[in-house]
Amino acid sequence: MIPNQPHGGILINRIAEGQERERWLARAAKLPRVRLNLRQISDVEMIATGAFSPLEGFMGRADYERVLGEERLASGTVWTIPVTLAVDEETKRAVGGSEAAALTDEHDRVVAVLELHETFRYDREKEAQAVLRTTDASHPGVQYLRGAGEYCLAGPIHVLERRQNPVTENYRLDPRETRYLFAQRGWKTIVAFQTRNPVHRAHEYILKCALETVDGLLLHPLVGETRDEDIPADVRIQCYLALLGNTLPAARTIFSVYPAAMRYAGPREAIFHAIARKNYGCTHFIVGRDHAGVGNFYGPFDAQKKFFDFAPHELGITPYCFDATFYCKKCAQVASEKTCSHGPENRLTLSGTKVREMLRNGEGLPLEFTRPEVAAILEKAYRDK
Ligand code: ADX
Repeated sequence: MIPNQPHGGILINRIAEGQERERWLARAAKLPRVRLNLRQISDVEMIATGAFSPLEGFMGRADYERVLGEERLASGTVWTIPVTLAVDEETKRAVGGSEAAALTDEHDRVVAVLELHETFRYDREKEAQAVLRTTDASHPGVQYLRGAGEYCLAGPIHVLERRQNPVTENYRLDPRETRYLFAQRGWKTIVAFQTRNPVHRAHEYILKCALETVDGLLLHPLVGETRDEDIPADVRIQCYLALLGNTLPAARTIFSVYPAAMRYAGPREAIFHAIARKNYGCTHFIVGRDHAGVGNFYGPFDAQKKFFDFAPHELGITPYCFDATFYCKKCAQVASEKTCSHGPENRLTLSGTKVREMLRNGEGLPLEFTRPEVAAILEKAYRDK
């Protein structure tokens, strides 16, 4: 039995194979080229594998406008984040009246073809305000938009070359593969955990609380583009592997990378993350403190509240909401205000900024905060840098 239906009902597959691929490859050689940035390369992969079902390509104006204004695609399906192929004026002119464009990666390799159905101009400030709730230049999403082109190329894509990433490739399962594994294991309820960090004790506590109530866990760290300050994916993968099988039970955990880029869009991105995990077959999705947030742009529980803007059947995946967790010295374990009656003076909480500062200064991470095997990997990575 398939654990959960894809968003919109059908798992999209935009990977061209066999003769179809040959035809597109031959055609691509004669098409104008558009060089993708890292986020767009990730988006191509997410669309192609069905992780962004029901999207079949980069959004046209009707979808884009409705996503901004109403958090839905033109069809009415819930969707909170624009997935667009923004280009500058020069590229737009070069593509001109062509019916299709060859999309290339950073090595100028053709990775996909876009059937060019539409080109439209958009307002970057308006998008920032609607999606990120800010136009402040210190927000990484606003910075991205300011550097992006003003025109969007839109239409379905055909992927000709899968992205090759030696760091993440061995741990990459596509939605049809996770769905297959869930079914093989007989799991009916699966909780997904999105993270862009190593798994610290606070995360582990949440994972285990969630795992008490479902059949299985998909440990699903995002490994697409993140801010430079975030801990790189290769180091994080070592940290996740160190926990698998021992701290996290092998029989009830599947580990796979999530190749999307981070948008730092807080509440809207939390919905986006959940919908994508529904496409991977998950039935539940963990939303803790300040999910997909950055700095102080979002309230700590805004992302959780966002889930109540939609009817449960429209989302089709259930949020598992967690309060802020911390290590309490009196409890001698991780807890939250829901489970701990001691005062804040007993709590150990470290922000991501503080953790990185400690690592840069060669200070060891407290074992109450991070398991020793994870701390050792992080400390070594910073020493070697
Ligand atoms: S995120 O950008 O992927 O959301 P992060 O890796 O920090 O960032 O968080 C992963 C998940 O764990 C998110 O759902 C987040 O809300 C949750 N989380 C992280 N730290 C805590 C904490 N101390 N208490 C509760 N939830 C947390």
